[in-house]
Amino acid sequence: MPEILAADDHLMKLSGINAVSLGIFAWAAYEPSEGNYQFGWLDERIEALHRNGIQIFLATPSGGKPAWLARKYPEIRRVNAEGRREPQQERHNFCYTSPIYREKLRAINTKLAKRYAAHPAVIGWHISNEYSGITRGATECYCPQCFKAFQDWLKQRYTDLETLNRTWWSRFWSKHFTAWEQIEFIDADIHGMVIDWKRFVTARTIDFMLAEIDAVHQYEPKLPTTTNLMGDFQLLDNAKLAAHVDFISWDAYPTWHKDSDESEQACWTAFHHDRYRSIKGGQPFLMLESTPSGTNWWPVCRSKRPGMHALSSVQAIAHGSEGVLYFQWRQSRGSSEKFHGAVVSHAGHENTRTFRDVQETSALLGKLDGIPGTSVKPDVAVLYDAENAWAIESAQGPRNRDKNYLETVREHHRQFWLQSVPVDIIDSEASFASYRLLVCPMLYMVKKGVAERLRTFAEQGGTLVFTYLSGLVDESDLCFLGGFPGPLRELCGLWVEENDTLWDHGAMRICPEEANDLELSGTYQARHYADILHLEGAETLATYGDDFYAGQPALTRNRIGKGEVYYVASRNDERFLADFFSGLTARAAISPALAAKLPTGVTATLRGDGNTTHVFIMNFTHVSKKIDLVETTWKDVLTGEHAPQAFELPPLGYKILTHHAPIS
Ligand code: GLA
Repeated sequence: MPEILAADDHLMKLSGINAVSLGIFAWAAYEPSEGNYQFGWLDERIEALHRNGIQIFLATPSGGKPAWLARKYPEIRRVNAEGRREPQQERHNFCYTSPIYREKLRAINTKLAKRYAAHPAVIGWHISNEYSGITRGATECYCPQCFKAFQDWLKQRYTDLETLNRTWWSRFWSKHFTAWEQIEFIDADIHGMVIDWKRFVTARTIDFMLAEIDAVHQYEPKLPTTTNLMGDFQLLDNAKLAAHVDFISWDAYPTWHKDSDESEQACWTAFHHDRYRSIKGGQPFLMLESTPSGTNWWPVCRSKRPGMHALSSVQAIAHGSEGVLYFQWRQSRGSSEKFHGAVVSHAGHENTRTFRDVQETSALLGKLDGIPGTSVKPDVAVLYDAENAWAIESAQGPRNRDKNYLETVREHHRQFWLQSVPVDIIDSEASFASYRLLVCPMLYMVKKGVAERLRTFAEQGGTLVFTYLSGLVDESDLCFLGGFPGPLRELCGLWVEENDTLWDHGAMRICPEEANDLELSGTYQARHYADILHLEGAETLATYGDDFYAGQPALTRNRIGKGEVYYVASRNDERFLADFFSGLTARAAISPALAAKLPTGVTATLRGDGNTTHVFIMNFTHVSKKIDLVETTWKDVLTGEHAPQAFELPPLGYKILTHHAPIS
């Protein structure tokens, strides 16, 4: 409707928004019937945005398939794991192998690129939307064309069936394959197959994405590309996708105001900001979606309380985002997202709290000169590995309930967030060289070469932390023979004889050795997992207090070269994690973002470059907090004045300080 679009132009200018992502699901509007392309409306929109000084990420439209395409070419619709082809429903659920989908998409992507890539307002490509997708139906495609591609992928990987059967251990229960064509289903009991299938789905998705990038890069091949990744989703190995785009972006939807203080959500969000920043070597990323108010899919869709929007936007910048983008600009009048938050509500004007929040955030971002392009350089990394996640998930035993790999990684990350120690989240294929402390929770699968690289890290002075459920299988999901933790055994200086697990009611005491140098004190509680181990060079820092292995080691340290390797044999309570990690950071002389001790619920992080450091102090509670910087050379970025040594941080308040010193 022209009057809505005219109002949008006015409101966008008023909101201070200076970048949009455009055309994400617009295929049916670009091509309402086969070969009938309609770009007039987009020409007009791009010109209007350009006139307003707004820059554009132009999206490729593969996330939503038009009805005519789905009807004429049923093969583009996904087949679910039960072999049923899905009806034309939802979005994101196209077959990523289908040649006809790729052909039709290439045609439209080529047209978009030819027409707009050189437009001065277009600054990048937003490729597709949330590959693998949020869908109630099939998250992977099990059609015959995908299985044929899977067979080819397997032939490349294993060359012959004998090798494949041996690697998958498929003679067990007589499941081995005698012809490639027999691989036309996924058997949950063949774990190697399950993991290879997921690797293949990632590889297929990358292949699909590269075909999209290739099409748009026929014109202006240097125009940067991104694809928006998703919070907790573990369907794809995002780190592998990351290698093929120019910059990382992700969609952040924390459930603010679920709890009385916001720390849990703040920490969840910080984890993903850290994770997505890290998967491309720590370069700045973009928060491509966030809600300016609420969402329509949380169990309870609360509005952002006053102050929350600015704070959550500052948090993204603090962790390395280059900006704050919103889903959605204007509430769609009908369909599934009509109640999702938007900059412009159904009321259609600027006189709303949300709109004012957005204006305030735009003004704030406008004052952050000197921050874009700078990075965060943590001394600490916590390891999260997608293939390890799949392997733990598909395993039957040693404990089937509450495996909680991702949650466990987050619990470990949380300790650094609480201490305001900057941290990266990397996978086992990333370089470890820039870190001093590397925490590897539940490293169940140890891929080829990883143990050697971990050893080098320790020898050169790094501190390593391993936990229960580590070093059980290789990258094919075959158990290591000769004693756990397999290739980590020498590094840890111990042999895990049994991977015991506990019922939920079976908590066990963990008793630190007296006068230990990590200042562990009192007794801690272990639950779920408890490895029974023998020392082979490591020293004991704590022992089990119960059961038939009472008195045996529960926490150990091994010295390797100039470094130290810790093994935490049981899943311990939060108090243990807090004491243990503050002991470790003190021992390794790892400094927090600020020397000052911050009150509970207040956290700080750093961004900077070779000349300047910025510190972001954020209060995720609903009460004001007293901050004492102890001493200060900092300048307040927003006021331009010297920062006082002591000040009050209001509820959900923040301060951004800077000084001329390189980020260390
Ligand atoms: C995702 C999608 C958007 C929108 C939002 C709603 O991130 O990419 O299209 O559906 O969720 O929260």
